[in-house]
Amino acid sequence: MKTFLYANDLGDLNRALAEAAEIKRERYKYEHLGRHRTVLLIFFNNSLRTRLSTQKAARNLGLDVVVLDVNQGAWKLETERGVIMDGDKSEHLLEAVPVMGAYCDLIGVRTFAGLSDRRADYEERILRQFIEHSGRPVFSMESATAHPLQAFADLITIEEHKRTARPKVVLTWAPHPRALPQAVPDSFAEWMRAADVELVVTHPHGYELDPLFVGDARVEYDQMKALEGADFVYAKNWSCPGVTCPDDYGKILSTDRSWTIDAAHMAVTNDAAFMHCLPVRRGMIVTDDVIESPRSLVIPEAANREISATVVLKRMLESL
Ligand code: CP
Repeated sequence: MKTFLYANDLGDLNRALAEAAEIKRERYKYEHLGRHRTVLLIFFNNSLRTRLSTQKAARNLGLDVVVLDVNQGAWKLETERGVIMDGDKSEHLLEAVPVMGAYCDLIGVRTFAGLSDRRADYEERILRQFIEHSGRPVFSMESATAHPLQAFADLITIEEHKRTARPKVVLTWAPHPRALPQAVPDSFAEWMRAADVELVVTHPHGYELDPLFVGDARVEYDQMKALEGADFVYAKNWSCPGVTCPDDYGKILSTDRSWTIDAAHMAVTNDAAFMHCLPVRRGMIVTDDVIESPRSLVIPEAANREISATVVLKRMLESL
């Protein structure tokens, strides 16, 4: 596997889930694969889970890990080609990326959407420069439009906790005070469509996800109706994806707190498990009682980030 951005980069998801289960049983089984190999983890944006879980996954595989926080100690990078670099940016990504590639065997990149230029975000312009110019296998640690390590961990968590063969999984928008990227809901919708679940997506008008990810999944604008009989409730905020209203791309269209997941929302479900990728704003996305309930999976879900990353890095090491 030379790139990891979309569900189909991993191939058969049942095989990937079996690998995840194996790694969970024997975390260090493939420790030999990373011997004398280095993974470089590059963060353009903040992280807690991705930063820790990907380092742990790398060590499970015997890899050396180098972490670079681009905005803390590195030269400020220009990402656009054709500009006259007479401002505060000292180095161009086109030199920095192959230099980074010279020091490692694999590269992980976290680079959030700018939320101002939809085309640049949906073309994954920064991640693509790493893929094209580093000479190394590259995996997304959440890029402009996708967070596949999170979606894979979510799928592992659903597989471990499902009580029916084909559970109903509801992805619901919830309010947030800041404009957030669409990467998590994009990937979640994409991966759930590829998995054996009944997916329903619910959000206010204007928040329609890109068809590349949401495909022909059922969209229900009445949140309570969508939640009826759900086995899993996956809450997340996202800003306007600009699908039905291009001029509003990246903007907050609603702060309607009636979309916050509380006990009344959970009461119409099939005793659903609650999921969120974290970090989560309590009182905005979800109430304290729901996130603290025995049906909340947010901690095991975060723990499975180590497992999803171990499978992905293992696949990349096997392809070197
Ligand atoms: N869910 C997730 O990616 O968390 P971090 O932003 O803390 O890495």
